[in-house]
Amino acid sequence: MQTFSELATQFSAYFNKEHFPQTPQSLYDPARYFLGLGGKRVRPVACLMGNELFDDLKGDTWNVAVAIELFHNFTLIHDDIMDKAPLRRNQPTVHHKYGESTALLAGDVMLVAAYEYLNKITVPVASKIVNLFNKSAKEVCEGQQLDMDFEQSLDVDFDAYLHMINLKTSVLLGGSLQMGALLGGAGARNQNLIYEFGRKLGLAFQVQDDYLDAFGDPEKFGKQTGGDIMANKKTFLLIHALQTATAVQRQELNALLQTNTPDKVHGVLKMFQQCGVDAWAVELKERYLQEALQHLDDIAVVSKRKEPLKQLALFLIQREH
Ligand code: IPE
Ligand code: IPE
Ligand code: MG
Ligand code: MG
Ligand code: MG
Repeated sequence: MQTFSELATQFSAYFNKEHFPQTPQSLYDPARYFLGLGGKRVRPVACLMGNELFDDLKGDTWNVAVAIELFHNFTLIHDDIMDKAPLRRNQPTVHHKYGESTALLAGDVMLVAAYEYLNKITVPVASKIVNLFNKSAKEVCEGQQLDMDFEQSLDVDFDAYLHMINLKTSVLLGGSLQMGALLGGAGARNQNLIYEFGRKLGLAFQVQDDYLDAFGDPEKFGKQTGGDIMANKKTFLLIHALQTATAVQRQELNALLQTNTPDKVHGVLKMFQQCGVDAWAVELKERYLQEALQHLDDIAVVSKRKEPLKQLALFLIQREH
């Protein structure tokens, strides 16, 4: 079993090649631009790790890993349009640099490229892989729609939030690990356990993402901080703040949410701090991390082989970017 960083280096070498034709440049340059910005490559490496937990890496696993990363990048390009985000990976987002219509198409063509890689796999479990990929992809769209629906709603509770982040974020991490495990020859029980490990880890990952969106160091985070607050996103921070606020604080917070002034972010952050959301973030991440690790423990493989996945879990919840 190799570590996350060893596999990430190998994956980058494999992934950083030409995925698109030269012309029209006005379409493919933006797609190339975005892939060239890098990223942590968490999901494709999770897929490789899922395979390695059970057996030596298969050639087809690399194709699936590439398909997953292309799919993820497609979702980010479109997500940045939906979220009106100007920055990602410390650089201008595709729609800010090239316009919304081009960003839509650059995302679309990336999704098609993902399926081209998926179409290369020849293992007997190929159709199971495609089904799992498609299931996760549809769920991401469902989660993204709920995320936007919630911007307009004033009473999103914690369970609704969990349901939404499970779809928009967790299922792809769980699915990536499961696809790897399937390619590594894991049986149904172990596949389910690694999926659940990834799903719970995905919840902790999104909690950290929401936290960083509010309190992260913009230099390290690479995205505009306060973006969720400006877009009225229903994050766990806001839900917890509204739940624990005094009547006066809740009134103040609700009033701030109705505004769109430049000091909105500052005001909401102050309320978040008063309501102790940072301590709650730590508690929440820890809870999902422990649940994730329990599923990992239950996988019928010698525990030494699980060490890199444990390290990955710890990295993901402590990350600053
Ligand atoms: C961002 O994912 C989207 C979320 C689900 C929060 P990552 O934080 O993995 O993005 P990159 O690929 O490393 O930039
Ligand atoms: C997006 O969640 C998840 C997907 C792209 C599917 P966010 O909107 O929180 O992701 P970031 O913060 O822009 O990366
Ligand atoms: Mg979003
Ligand atoms: Mg976003
Ligand atoms: Mg976010």
